[in-house]
Amino acid sequence: MRKIEIFDTTLRDGEQSAGVNLHIHEKLEIAHQLARYGVDVIEAGFPASSRGDFEAVQLIARQVKSCTIAGLARSTERDIDAVRDALREAASPRIHVFIATSPIHMKHKLNLTPEETLETAVAAVRYAKRFCADVEWSAEDATRSDWDFLVKLITRVIDAGATVINLPDTVGYTTPEEYGNLFRYVREHVPNIDRVKLSAHCHDDLGMAVINTLSAIQAGVSQVEVTVNGIGERAGNTSLEEVAVALAIRKDYFQAETGLHLEQTIRTSRLVSKLTGMAVPPNKAVVGANAFAHESGIHQDGVLKNPLTYEIIRPEMIGLTSNVMAIGKHSGRHALREKCKELGLQLDEQEFNRLFRAFKDLTGKKKEITDDDILALALESSSEA
Ligand code: KIV
Ligand code: ZN
Repeated sequence: MRKIEIFDTTLRDGEQSAGVNLHIHEKLEIAHQLARYGVDVIEAGFPASSRGDFEAVQLIARQVKSCTIAGLARSTERDIDAVRDALREAASPRIHVFIATSPIHMKHKLNLTPEETLETAVAAVRYAKRFCADVEWSAEDATRSDWDFLVKLITRVIDAGATVINLPDTVGYTTPEEYGNLFRYVREHVPNIDRVKLSAHCHDDLGMAVINTLSAIQAGVSQVEVTVNGIGERAGNTSLEEVAVALAIRKDYFQAETGLHLEQTIRTSRLVSKLTGMAVPPNKAVVGANAFAHESGIHQDGVLKNPLTYEIIRPEMIGLTSNVMAIGKHSGRHALREKCKELGLQLDEQEFNRLFRAFKDLTGKKKEITDDDILALALESSSEA
């Protein structure tokens, strides 16, 4: 099994979600939970961007010792100095420097020629390397960059001391096959590529962040950059829990695993949702409220006989105590009987039949049937006897 390292950027790219502004102590609480979850790297922030970010990275570096702590820097000495200073007390620090490499970004954002971009990137990595053994280099907008230009850049930044090469799909533009092929191309054409780790970083603008990340894993990357609940700029980043659980459930297919304690998944998701104020959609894979809820009679009957009929993920795996039998208009007698047992109702067959009819009537008037509704109906059904 290949080990895939989890680089969590909830506190940096995730915090760039519109409307999210975490307090320093909330960031620390999330960082401690990420460490408990077992992520390998926490990108704690972008120290040059604000005093608050600097202090949050510094505090996390001081207190969270079981994972690598990374800070982001543009390719300037000022930004790199800020990361160096914020990470002084980290047990395992990483400076993460980036520069945009696509024609549109170089021309319209950086106002640099490709040659100037290359020299700036190499100088930044060389400068960062003076302070930190572990230097990650990212080619922003890599998926809209020229592949041969990337090969040239990557070869040079590795020679300058980069230890991790990240090729972000910054605008969520790539497709699974194309993204996998980009990594294959780089592995084939960069002569010193064996000296570094390759990393994938995807955004979800076309809803493909998770599948693009999985495709990069198949193409040989050993680090993936993700956020809890997939929060992040615009449509968000690759969702940590979806990648982690996909690798765990389809180990046979991906032949790769993470070091995560998956039973911390729900707790981590709920904490991030609560502190960021970003609700998790009920139908979200793995962590949505409905991800383990069965409503239709056929499904409920199957799951009550053997959960594996309709559940590929056991709820306990991600830290839930059980699945949910949602009681609604699609539910059948089997599920209602289980609900009665759970509520401690003892009904004879006639009473149960009356209750079932009353319950079906109620589903015509009400979307969600609560435990209190069932209790009230059961009382009526037994008093009719
Ligand atoms: O999406 C992106 O390109 C980034 C980089 C700064 C790593 O977040
Ligand atoms: Zn990003």
